[in-house]
Amino acid sequence: MNQCKTQNIVAPLTQSATFLVFSIKGEQRESIETIKSTLGSTSDLIKNINIRDNTARFACTVGIGNKAWDCLFGQKGKPKELHAFKEVRGKKHVAVSTPGDLFYHIRSDRRDLCFEFERQLTDMLDDSVKVEDVTVGFRYFDTRDLLGFVDGTANPQDAEALEAAYITPSIDPSESAIGGSYVLIQKYKHDIKSWKTLSTEKQESILGRRKFDNVELEDADEKAQKSHKTLCTISASDGGERAILRDNMPFGSPAENMFGTYFIGYSRELWVMEKMLERMYCGDPDGLHDRTLDYSTPQTGSVFFAPSMDVLDSLGDD
Ligand code: HEM
Repeated sequence: MNQCKTQNIVAPLTQSATFLVFSIKGEQRESIETIKSTLGSTSDLIKNINIRDNTARFACTVGIGNKAWDCLFGQKGKPKELHAFKEVRGKKHVAVSTPGDLFYHIRSDRRDLCFEFERQLTDMLDDSVKVEDVTVGFRYFDTRDLLGFVDGTANPQDAEALEAAYITPSIDPSESAIGGSYVLIQKYKHDIKSWKTLSTEKQESILGRRKFDNVELEDADEKAQKSHKTLCTISASDGGERAILRDNMPFGSPAENMFGTYFIGYSRELWVMEKMLERMYCGDPDGLHDRTLDYSTPQTGSVFFAPSMDVLDSLGDD
């Protein structure tokens, strides 16, 4: 691809993940300096955990929010699509926009490695940030979400995954953007009790895949409410389909009636994920929204930019 050292966005699906969202405390010089040096140490922190068990597929991706980007790098050379998450208001459901300056997507087959990275990271960040959200996700059987469906099937693989995720100079020639990726996150809480009242056939028509064997289903009626899978299939003006890379994780606690899906998408073009949200929430045609939303409510919604590792490393040189 390009010459720069990228973050490991296309890391394989793991057994465990931690999603951390922070806000910068105030805009004091001291906080910014601490954050710069922490971001500049990302590759050292990753190496420090990886060496403890390099078979556990440890990976960490760091994302920077719109406001934080301006504080850390200024406007010059800013990735051209970077802005805060835009709330999407459909007739029935709303994709809320919630605060977030820094985002960490920590993945491993070993929960203790995710924990240890979080420990060392928060030691470094010290008092410079406020925690907005911490979610611990787990792999559920054969990569199923808590609605019971296999999640992640249509993800691009190998060279196609690299193409979907990483920005090349033809997408955005800015040096800060090249080798980076837009990250969109939403933490969904499911109403499992209501979902369970639906027949399997009904659930399958909502998602667009067969539950048991994951076979893709055509929408029965073109004019009716489209399936989730169809609403999330996006074509550009050149007619080509635009794939994104997802690494959704279930989270929750049955005893507390908490059943969730942490949605995370990476894309070299933010508009593609925004278009998916618009189609899910507003519908296609307008008013015929994605019915997964009748059983899934977003608690958060934020956009970040995960720059190349070279860009992160450069913060350590300041
Ligand atoms: C497909 C679950 C939210 C984008 C799927 C599939 C499932 C699923 C089961 C079918 C299998 C697959 O290809 O992965 C969920 C759940 C969500 C959620 C449980 C949250 C409650 C979202 C959001 C987006 C999205 C917010 C985009 C912003 C996609 C895409 C596909 C997909 C691009 C593949 C479509 C294709 O077949 O090409 N999702 N999803 N999903 N979802 Fe979601």
